[in-house]
This record gives sequence, structure tokens and C-alpha cells, in this order.
Amino acid sequence: MRAGRFITFEGPEGGGKTTQAKRLIARLREAGRDVLYTREPGGTPTGEAIRDILQHNKAGEPICDEAEVFLFAASRAQLVRTVILPALARGTIVVCDRFADSTTAYQGYGRGFPVEQMLAINAFAVGEAVPDITLLLDVPIAIGFERIHARQQELFQDADRIEREARAFHDRVRAGYLELAQRWPERFRRVDATQAPDDVERAVWELVSGVLP
Ligand SMILES: Nc1ncnc2c1ncn2[C@@H]1O[C@H](COP(=O)(O)OP(=O)(O)OP(=O)(O)O)[C@@H](O)[C@H]1O
Ligand SMILES: [Mg+2]
Repeated sequence: MRAGRFITFEGPEGGGKTTQAKRLIARLREAGRDVLYTREPGGTPTGEAIRDILQHNKAGEPICDEAEVFLFAASRAQLVRTVILPALARGTIVVCDRFADSTTAYQGYGRGFPVEQMLAINAFAVGEAVPDITLLLDVPIAIGFERIHARQQELFQDADRIEREARAFHDRVRAGYLELAQRWPERFRRVDATQAPDDVERAVWELVSGVLP
């Protein structure tokens, strides 16, 4: 077993991944744990540049779906080598807001690329950085989008490129996540993210407590 623990949050848009990742970080810190929060795509200078290309079309041209796969993988590979693995080796608990399963769910199930191919690309990108636990914050697409629209109105934000995908795309993503959770039941934990934030937080804390050193 590694010295630290690697915890990832996954799930469709608006499930509360960022909200809960931050709450978990706060709880872990209160408990005196050494923790690190990071997000995907991003988390490194290279990754943040890639994030701008992916989410806001910074390069000024449409990104083909194949290139999108490798941009996510490149961001992830850099994050793993420069941030995640060194932190885990030091005994830090790493909490990542989205990780490799997002590629399988969005590019595999969502866009329709072969799932096994996405898994192979992920395996190359992440090496030994396989999460100890993956919290799947599962929420019906309609509820997730209601939340996101409320957040965007509050912050005067526009929908990003992936959020603008059709409803059917997001339905496939959610179903894909549920399939992944069945395929790796020892790693995945599905959390009912329709609950109130405090209830989701409690459920997450109980699950995470079980894998802490
Ligand atoms: N359990 C909840 N019940 C109601 N609203 C919530 C809940 N959790 C989060 N929210 C609100 O829903 C919005 C989306 O939450 P958040 O940004 O954490 O989701 P996310 O899964 O990170 O979304 P994205 O996929 O866009 O990154 C926020 O405005 C947040 O305050
Ligand atoms: Mg988020």
C-alpha cells in the first residue's frame, strides 16, 4: 500500500463534486491530515493551459474529438508525475476533482469511442496512480443541470463546451459511470447526490474514513 491515499470525485455535471471535494478537504485538515486538492483538467501549469483550450476554446479552432482525448490524457499524465505521485509518496492524502474515469465516461460512453481504448489510454497516462477510492456523486441529469444553471447565473458564467452537449450525451455519461462502478466495485462508491449537501458530506466522510491510513 502507498503511504498516502488517492481519493477521486466523479460523476455527471452538477452532482456536487467540487462542493464535496472542498468539504472533504476541510474535514481532513481539521482531523490534522496532510491533504492536497487538485482538479482535472488542470492542476499544473501545463494542465491549466490545456483546460483553457478544452473548456474555452482558447486555441481558436474547434478541437476534434480524438485530440480532445489526448489533451485530457496529457493534462492527467503531467499532473500524475509532477503532483500526485510525489504527494502520495510523502504520505499526503490527495483529493482529485475528476480523474481518469471522466475520460472513460465522457469520451468513451458519451462520445462513443471504444471504452477499452479509453481505458488503455488512461492506463498509460496514470501509471500506478490508480485511486484508492472513487466517489461517484450520482445525480439525474436534469437535477445536475438545474444546479449548474443556478450557479452560472449567480456567478455570471457561460456554459462551457462540454456542458453545451446534448441531453442524450449526458445521459450516456451518467449510465457509463454507473457501469464503471459495477465493473470496479472495490474502488467505486456510488453516493446519492440528490441529497442535501450536509447529507452527501456525511456519506462521503463515512466512506473515506474506511480507507484512511
Ligand atoms: N447536494 C446539493 N444540493 C443542492 N445543490 C447543490 C448540492 N451540491 C452542490 N450544489 C450546488 O450545485 C451547484 C453545482 O455544484 P458543484 O459545482 O459542486 O458540482 P460539480 O459536480 O463540481 O459540477 P461540474 O460538473 O460543473 O464541475 C453549485 O451551485 C452548488 O452550490
Ligand atoms: Mg466542479
